[in-house]
Amino acid sequence: MNPKFKNPRAKHNFIGRTCSITGIGSYVPQKVLTNHDLEKMVDTSDEWIRSRTGIRERHIAAKDEWTSDMGARAAQRAMKMAGVTADQIDLIIVATITPDMPFPATACLIQKQLGARRAAAFDLEAACSGFIYALEIAQQFIMSRTYDTVLVIGAEKLSSITDWTDRNTCVLFGDGAGAAILQNRDRAHGLLTVAMGADGEKSDLLFMPGGGSRRPATRESVDGRLHFLRMEGKETFKNAVQAMLSAADEVLRRCEIDIGKIKCIIPHQANQRIIEAVGQRLGARPEQLFINLDKYGNTSAASVAIALDEAVASGRISKGDLVLLIVFGAGLTWGAAVVEW
Ligand code: ACO
Repeated sequence: MNPKFKNPRAKHNFIGRTCSITGIGSYVPQKVLTNHDLEKMVDTSDEWIRSRTGIRERHIAAKDEWTSDMGARAAQRAMKMAGVTADQIDLIIVATITPDMPFPATACLIQKQLGARRAAAFDLEAACSGFIYALEIAQQFIMSRTYDTVLVIGAEKLSSITDWTDRNTCVLFGDGAGAAILQNRDRAHGLLTVAMGADGEKSDLLFMPGGGSRRPATRESVDGRLHFLRMEGKETFKNAVQAMLSAADEVLRRCEIDIGKIKCIIPHQANQRIIEAVGQRLGARPEQLFINLDKYGNTSAASVAIALDEAVASGRISKGDLVLLIVFGAGLTWGAAVVEW
């Protein structure tokens, strides 16, 4: 794989303005679906799921709970931490592959729920990499002095596109949302660098065939189960390790930071074996890796945002610590970021 990183640069290019995460928040729905519950739904076992993925349980949204509801709740928590009111928000970016509906944007629905009437709003689709893509876009707006306060959200109701009869995929995913407030701060801490990449040649490894302009919804598309996600697990696994490693190497090189100096590594929470393989190849110590997929499964664009929120809340990250975020998802897409908390 030959990652095509965009906008290479490092901290010292940002003289005079920095982009900081001033608030972080997350939300997961109340209902918990355990591996033992899944044993009653498909031919699987708690032992298989735990040993192959590390997942024990996941949260599942209620029927009348949408991606926008979860995103708005996470946003309110991030706004509270940042001390930001709805009318201060200039822009809302929502990363999701499970919008409430194809249009309007879920970001607009969240804008309405929050009462953020001044804010521009749009959705971004980069699957599990969406939160990092959104952070980079938010940062560009802040560094260019276009906006001062941007709300970034990763929110997913993956249960709505999960085929609950397919044991290969239904054990992997969960619902939830994470959000961050990004602002210009005079002090030199914040997002140091972000790298993003994509490889459309491998778009067939992980996709949902139906519901778009190619295969609109018809009786046949529903009967053919085209409105559920499909995945080539083994190939996705191999590509995930390689891409996450390249992205992490790239941002560390740009910042001239040794992996030993990173306090907390927050990788996309898809599979514990992927996380451990990436950590090992980066030369990280096991205690540097933050893992919470046992409780939530893979929540796609929400994954690293929920993990970052938990890492901060649990005291794993304190002011001034260096944090490495690494993501990978359908597209294929990938990315990494170094944050000085
Ligand atoms: N329970 C029991 N057996 C199962 C289950 C299950 N839930 N699922 C698959 N199996 C079986 C398979 O049928 C296969 O049986 P066979 O050998 O008789 O054919 C056997 O287990 C082994 O299957 P593998 O696919 O080889 O299992 P593997 O070790 O590769 O693990 C997994 C599968 C967990 C899906 C792994 O490949 C993986 O995590 N892939 C990456 C997923 C990922 O990272 N996604 C990120 C992006 S997500 C996004 O963008 C939305």
